[in-house]
Amino acid sequence: MVVQDPHAAGLLLHDLSITVTEMFRDPDFYRAMREQVIPLLRTYSFIKIWHAGCSTGQEVYSMAILLQEEGIYDRTTIYATDFNQHALDLAREGVYAAEAARAYTMSYQRSGGSRSFADYYTSAYDHIVMDRSLKKNIVWAHHNLVTDQVFAEVQLILCRNVLIYFNKDLQARALSLFTDSLVSGGVLALGSRETLQFIDQEREFSALDVRQRIYRKKY
Ligand SMILES: C[S@@+](CC[C@H](N)C(=O)[O-])C[C@H]1O[C@@H](n2cnc3c(N)ncnc32)[C@H](O)[C@@H]1O
Repeated sequence: MVVQDPHAAGLLLHDLSITVTEMFRDPDFYRAMREQVIPLLRTYSFIKIWHAGCSTGQEVYSMAILLQEEGIYDRTTIYATDFNQHALDLAREGVYAAEAARAYTMSYQRSGGSRSFADYYTSAYDHIVMDRSLKKNIVWAHHNLVTDQVFAEVQLILCRNVLIYFNKDLQARALSLFTDSLVSGGVLALGSRETLQFIDQEREFSALDVRQRIYRKKY
């Protein structure tokens, strides 16, 4: 029976969870991060960011690149969590198919990236390996948004393209975790098809960029 065999249960979970992701997914979102959120983060001496549902890590490395370019990565800790251990293991390795690099490069440029995306990885046969300097302030951890508790007190939470798979009750639970984890004035970023509208937590936030689904916790 699958449920009595942890290994089989893990494989089943891996198969069931949708882990599709990419670097600089929705480039305009990252542009908004650069222009509207980085200036807020700069005001803190130590910055803590939580990527909830980080999948295989591409969005986490995208953020690390952006923070490095903005000169604030050294004072940042990124907590990157997912309930899929296999995805987290791949994320920690930071090894991706070389054939994806071209699309990643275009998205990086469209997001406002000023360097060459190739500066951030080394090529090895048919793979690219993300640079070690990007990994140093990332803490990868298992966390289930449905059953686990508040993760840490942070200034920015990204939970993109995860809530879309939750029903209303589970969305409300995850959003209440985020509300409790954010400092006042902290920022919550959702995916392009996700919204706080019609959810109880809506009143706790004001919109920073409605189009990009970026919200700010009220003081
Ligand atoms: C479609 S991916 C989104 C990845 C990334 N955030 C992005 O936007 O590119 C959804 C991720 O949410 C994770 N996820 C789904 N349910 C979860 C839960 N209850 N707790 C934590 N992570 C979950 C999945 O394992 C998967 O990696």
